Amino acid sequence: MDSVMTIRGGVPLNGKVAVRGAKNLVPKAMVAALLGNTPSILRNVPEIKDVDVVTSLLTIHGVEVTKDPVTGDLTMDPQNAKTAPSREIDAHAGDSRIPILFCGPLMHSLGEAFIPDLGGCKIGDRPIDYHLQVLRNFGAVVEKRPGGISISAPKGLHGAKLELPYPSVGATEQVLLTACRAQGITELAGAAVEPEIMDLIAVLQKMGAIISVQTDRVIRIEGVEELSGYNHRALPDRNESASWASAALVTHGDIYVEGADQQDLTAFLNTYRKIGGAFDVNDEGIRFYHPGGDLKPLVLETGVHPGFMTDWQQPLVVALTQANGVSIVHETVYENRFGFTEALIRMGANIQLHRECLGSVPCRFGQRNFQHSAVISGPVQLKGTDIDIPDLRGGFSHLIAALAADGVSHVTGIELINRGYERFQEKLEGLGVDIDLRTSGV
Ligand code: EPU
Repeated sequence: MDSVMTIRGGVPLNGKVAVRGAKNLVPKAMVAALLGNTPSILRNVPEIKDVDVVTSLLTIHGVEVTKDPVTGDLTMDPQNAKTAPSREIDAHAGDSRIPILFCGPLMHSLGEAFIPDLGGCKIGDRPIDYHLQVLRNFGAVVEKRPGGISISAPKGLHGAKLELPYPSVGATEQVLLTACRAQGITELAGAAVEPEIMDLIAVLQKMGAIISVQTDRVIRIEGVEELSGYNHRALPDRNESASWASAALVTHGDIYVEGADQQDLTAFLNTYRKIGGAFDVNDEGIRFYHPGGDLKPLVLETGVHPGFMTDWQQPLVVALTQANGVSIVHETVYENRFGFTEALIRMGANIQLHRECLGSVPCRFGQRNFQHSAVISGPVQLKGTDIDIPDLRGGFSHLIAALAADGVSHVTGIELINRGYERFQEKLEGLGVDIDLRTSGV
């Protein structure tokens, strides 16, 4: 079944949207439930595909997952956890990147794990070498098998002194989820310290873990023998908030994002202000709007927290096509996160990609043939076109470009957006958008 979304552009997005728990925390907190010996409760859970994938993976491993029909809160009871049939695990190959984080918790509760080949957005190679290296350092034996990897810890898992070559979010989470029940002390240098990681640490601390975050990206974990369940409200999705903020700017609109949290968006808000966007913060959310006048170009570099997040880059590039002058964006987290600009160029955007590091600091991708810097000249009037969505954030960027464009766009592949944006079609309609979604049988 192929769905085609028809969007008539030229309408400012006006109104209110609510964001719920972060896509980049909720599935990981769900995995953490496997580490407890009593049920866990997770609140503020969004209805997104990654949550469905992890629910299904937990269920086939014997965790009873129940959803409150009114609040959507999840209760996860791991007391009957069991090894899952590999046929059922295989069915999840390619669905998401979260399964790799099951390694530590499954080894702690069952002594072994089989992890299907990973999916996720196509924004670079996305290797798992850091994950496998830290697991080996904990004493795990990792073997590649058809359809996935098999992993066991015949001599148990023990704490280790670790250092990541790059502050990877996923590898830091891998260490946290494995070290908290490993024997002895783990010290991780070069850790990622994104707000979603701090929230995962809060979850683990509620379960009984002993984790301290020290200066200079060092995290120290004292392993404990057992953990219990948690009751936690997930932090809001700052990437969704930033996406709606860019949508307001691109369409000359005015969107109140209920749930947006200023503290997790500091770097984004500074940039938003610098390019001419306006925002008002109150206790429940943030109003983002285009205050009129020209948007200003800027030079921007993505980076790990507390820098400007790579996930904010793609929607913001659409806003930069509307700025008066030349902007430069240097993507330093993923080597291939500008593929989405091809559709923007077909819509009339003036964007050139470069292999060089066009930023103040050379990054890992310089001299390596990756088109990871973009020069964007504006303003241009975008025109509607046919678009096939390539990845989650790139796809959202295409949607907001189509909403700002002159004429009609036909968008396919919108299922990808369900991975990370809860009920986005309903939200768009609530903001006054004229869209039509048709599904044609094959
Ligand atoms: N990397 C390696 N080897 C590894 C792991 C990572 O080389 O074993 C590299 C990656 O290829 C990348 C860099 O390290 O170049 C950073 O990757 P990281 O591990 O930090 O990313 P991730 O954990 O796979 C999460 C989010 C991404 C977000 C990044 C960066 C989830 C499920 N995904 O990915 O979110 O962009 O952190 O903050 O949490 C999105 O939401 O659209 C999204 C892609």
